[in-house]
Amino acid sequence: MIIYKSREEIETMDRANRIVAQVLASLAARVEPGITTMDLDREAGRLCREAGAKPAFKGYRGYPCVLCTSVNEEVVHGIPSPKKVLQEGDIIGLDFGVVLDGYYGDAAVTVPVGRVSDEAGTLMRVTREALHRGIAEARAGRRLSDVGAAIQRHVEAQGFSVVREFVGHGIGTALHEDPQVPNYGAPGNGPLLKEGMALAIEPMVNIGRPDVRIHSDGWTASTIDGSLSAHFERSIAITENGPLILGGDVAGL
Ligand code: MF3
Ligand code: CO
Repeated sequence: MIIYKSREEIETMDRANRIVAQVLASLAARVEPGITTMDLDREAGRLCREAGAKPAFKGYRGYPCVLCTSVNEEVVHGIPSPKKVLQEGDIIGLDFGVVLDGYYGDAAVTVPVGRVSDEAGTLMRVTREALHRGIAEARAGRRLSDVGAAIQRHVEAQGFSVVREFVGHGIGTALHEDPQVPNYGAPGNGPLLKEGMALAIEPMVNIGRPDVRIHSDGWTASTIDGSLSAHFERSIAITENGPLILGGDVAGL
């Protein structure tokens, strides 16, 4: 069941997502060779507390950390570790969520560690562009699958592939609400988009094959062919003026 949000609820979600975006921007600025993914998790927890919010992921279905850190061929849900030291040339996906006054915020960004290959740079740029192509379709009167179709079109036009096993989602007083938001599909299908819907749109894009496997930790998803993967996510609300990016414009997201 899709839960429609009032203006006041969207306002609260905007504040929750502003904290998420600001934490991600701070974390992105700390990414450099030599730092561990656990250092980033600690920092995320500290910044979240300072902002007066509760981390959304820790304890969610038993997830052990506040942040997901997915390096190189890792697609999503990488678990931070003090043993995982970032190296020049890596790319890292940072996925973070909070609860504020009962409402969730959820966003992700992929950033370079020092200098990266041109191919890695293109992958990150195309994934971010695809997210924003998807967001542009999130308007009253369109159909849900118009979002995924726009994402898939942009990604495949660059020769990359869209991950199918994970999808975006409705968001509100739960981290995951209806509807599921695939990053692929033919346009013109699914629920009619309406004012008051709030969606987390989150394309995951691989350089090679779209297939993923889950590690023995039960969380980390990696590309099956070892190719690089990038992930960008924003939560948006559908308003009378079109899509509103919750938490506002933050550099890099
Ligand atoms: N952004 C991811 C999602 O929407 C983060 C979930 S990680 C989890 O599913 F640990 F909370 F599951
Ligand atoms: Co999400």
